Amino acid sequence: MTDSPATGVPSLTVRDNRTGQEYEVPIVDGAVRAADLGAIRAGEGTQGLAVYDPGFVNTASCRSSITYIDGDKGVLEYRGYPIEELAERSTFLEVAFLLINGHLPSKAEYEEWVYHITYHTFVHENVKNFVEGFRYDAHPMGMLMASVGALSTFYPDARNITDAHSREIQIIRMIAKMPTLGAWAFRHAQGKPYVYPDNDLGYTANFLSMLFKMSEQKYVADERLVRALDVLFILHADHEQNCSTNAVRSVGSSQVDPYSAVAAGIAALYGPLHGGANEAVLRMLRRIGSMDNIPAFIEGVKSGNERLMGFGHRVYKNHDPRARIIKKACDDVFEVTGLNPLLKIAHELETIALEDEYFVSRRLYPNVDFYSGLIYEALQFPPEMFTVLFAIGRTPGWLAQWLELVQDKEQKIARPKQIYTGQRTVEFVPAPERWA
Ligand code: CMC
Repeated sequence: MTDSPATGVPSLTVRDNRTGQEYEVPIVDGAVRAADLGAIRAGEGTQGLAVYDPGFVNTASCRSSITYIDGDKGVLEYRGYPIEELAERSTFLEVAFLLINGHLPSKAEYEEWVYHITYHTFVHENVKNFVEGFRYDAHPMGMLMASVGALSTFYPDARNITDAHSREIQIIRMIAKMPTLGAWAFRHAQGKPYVYPDNDLGYTANFLSMLFKMSEQKYVADERLVRALDVLFILHADHEQNCSTNAVRSVGSSQVDPYSAVAAGIAALYGPLHGGANEAVLRMLRRIGSMDNIPAFIEGVKSGNERLMGFGHRVYKNHDPRARIIKKACDDVFEVTGLNPLLKIAHELETIALEDEYFVSRRLYPNVDFYSGLIYEALQFPPEMFTVLFAIGRTPGWLAQWLELVQDKEQKIARPKQIYTGQRTVEFVPAPERWA
């Protein structure tokens, strides 16, 4: 790579060996524009060169100033603030403000933000009727996805996505109502009455109240558990262009309302390759069952018959900064709930894996999901609820990314290219003749 002799900006010189022609492609921010490669053609009337990238492994779809990740160094920052600092010293609602607005709130801004979120936690009674209509064994993620999508019909003003005030109010509504919808999905599965929000409580304490309150006047959760769940929400609040965020952006690029775009994000998160790994960790730990079975399990992993769930990451190749924070939160939670016997197995697996050549040479470290399932279980969540918790935490991130998308002049409706491999111009034979 050198600077272009003509323009002085960094550029890439590409020689097309089909034609012998050379092209100069500018490099901006370490990237070339795929559209510039489209100018490279084998001859008159032929298709321009395309980039084939299933899974977007090396394709940047946007410019973003929300979340920074350095996978080699194990760095995760929201708006430039290290995740360790935020998890230690901030709150989920403050982090949500930061992600959406790009700066930490002043005292007045924070108070106003918390007030608005608190007073938008109720949903229309018809939403309750709608939720009641699900089968007794409906998965809570399916219920959450459908009910968030349904909110778009309750707030038709949400389609005014060019109106800054409308965008702001939809963002507040969605962050506020997500715990209500998540908690009701949980209560529905248990056949228990839905609990209305308690506006005297903070965001996470109110969520726990809507989940677990029975006949008592007021449900007061242990502060340490409230804080641990708040930290878990912070850790999940954004993770740049992951599968569900990409879904929100892709659907949002059609200029649909944000409820519909976030429902698409929830759908993507529902899949086991994205939101479901912590559940798999728990199942794995239960299957191992006792310390004696660990060596045989590790051997199974090394011989390729097993996978150590909660280990390894596509991006983090040194450590997942979220995993370290979660491990600490684990200690706090078990102080209240009593030790989960599976924790001992998890610790032992981690100790062995961090020293074993198989894991070290492949740069496999515990990821965010290794310990989070244990915490969720200790907080009495059934495994189907784990992904709902992830969705509540991720909502401000999805919305920050949606907001960035709709204000980005460079963005267009998402419409990838394909490489067509099917037949062409086949003669159609009507059914009666084909079947004769
Ligand atoms: N246990 C055993 N071996 C593993 C594991 C594991 N958890 N992860 C990767 N490997 C091996 C893999 O077999 C391969 O070995 P070899 O070179 O001998 O074929 C090598 O390490 C590279 O693995 P890969 O599958 O090419 O890595 P990837 O970047 O495509 O996959 C991953 C990343 C997260 C899908 C994978 O590590 C995995 O399946 N982990 C377990 C599931 C899990 O914990 N997922 C949660 C991810 S964090 C959640 C989030 O941030 O959204």
